[in-house]
Amino acid sequence: MMNTVHVDLPGREYDIHIGPGLLAEAGRHLADLGGRRHVCILTDENVARLHLADLQAGLSAAGLTSVALTSPAGEATKCWAQLERSVEWLLAQKVERNDIVIAFGGGVIGDLAGFAAAILRRGVRFVQIPTSLLAQVDSSVGGKTGINSPSGKNLIGAFHQPSLVLADTGLLGTLTPRDFLAGYGEVVKYGLLGDATFFHWLEAEGRALAAGDMDARVRAVTRSCQMKADIVQRDETEQGDRALLNLGHTFCHALEAATGYSDRLLHGEGVAIGCALAFELSARLGLCSQEDPSRVRAHLRDMGMKVDIADIPGDLPDAAGLLDLMGQDKKVVDGKLRFILARGIGEAFITSDVPREAVMDVLDDALRGRV
Ligand code: GLY
Repeated sequence: MMNTVHVDLPGREYDIHIGPGLLAEAGRHLADLGGRRHVCILTDENVARLHLADLQAGLSAAGLTSVALTSPAGEATKCWAQLERSVEWLLAQKVERNDIVIAFGGGVIGDLAGFAAAILRRGVRFVQIPTSLLAQVDSSVGGKTGINSPSGKNLIGAFHQPSLVLADTGLLGTLTPRDFLAGYGEVVKYGLLGDATFFHWLEAEGRALAAGDMDARVRAVTRSCQMKADIVQRDETEQGDRALLNLGHTFCHALEAATGYSDRLLHGEGVAIGCALAFELSARLGLCSQEDPSRVRAHLRDMGMKVDIADIPGDLPDAAGLLDLMGQDKKVVDGKLRFILARGIGEAFITSDVPREAVMDVLDDALRGRV
């Protein structure tokens, strides 16, 4: 069972293959790209321990040799020091323009390796082999690459599309339930932003999917990638529609900053809470019915996910403090907060026209457990 989503960007088009067992076939898929039959893999310690031998076996089955550089697992790896280490290692491996670099890991490795590939010799090809649900449905697709700065997340980077994405859904079985559900936050986001039918399907199948139903996993990853591909094709560099993918993210970034990007709140958990708050704000502004935020929250709750600000352990700033953190997000344009709001489930839109008081009220009530 393998699905393929094609990303149709003129001159930079690529396929996303989705299904279990793709690691074993990685060599065949990479060989189709041409180039040297020797590839360099960037990965992290956890993924290397669990899956690197399988990937390398899959490559050698098609006659490809490979070497790997392993970085520490975790967000701190998206930094100048690891970028320099990766790029210098790739140069030492004599990677040339036509060669292929593999990003083998979750969002952190995908962003770091993609950026290393973007700047090495002014750009070499790279293949994303995402291992987390979040990376399979979001970060490995669409060409956003980069590292963090002390001034903020993802502030240093480039758009650099991969030449191929292999989303082996068999690997999702080794994720912790918490990591899986965090990635599921991004899956729900797709339904909420543009496909009510998909959201209804998730309401029915989400639990089976989380429990390991492979057909459901393949279907959810495929639909998510298809929706992302459609948006990226319309707006590769986020001049407009691509911002729809940031549903829930304005709230999320404030909550992540308030929790120090720590284990207290994973990105996908923040996205889920942020989506619930975006629907709450939309309902209060009279844009959608009050049933919509209730339905969003009910599904997240049913999945055993974090839903409310109160589900985040530890202290948080007050509403004014959170609003201030929102203002530091890079999605601020001319000092105006940009929100993705919704006219209903599956009907998100972008607006800069949101009264600060309305946002303050939602945050204030959420902090008091009144949402
Ligand atoms: N993760 C949002 C985007 O790729 O645009």
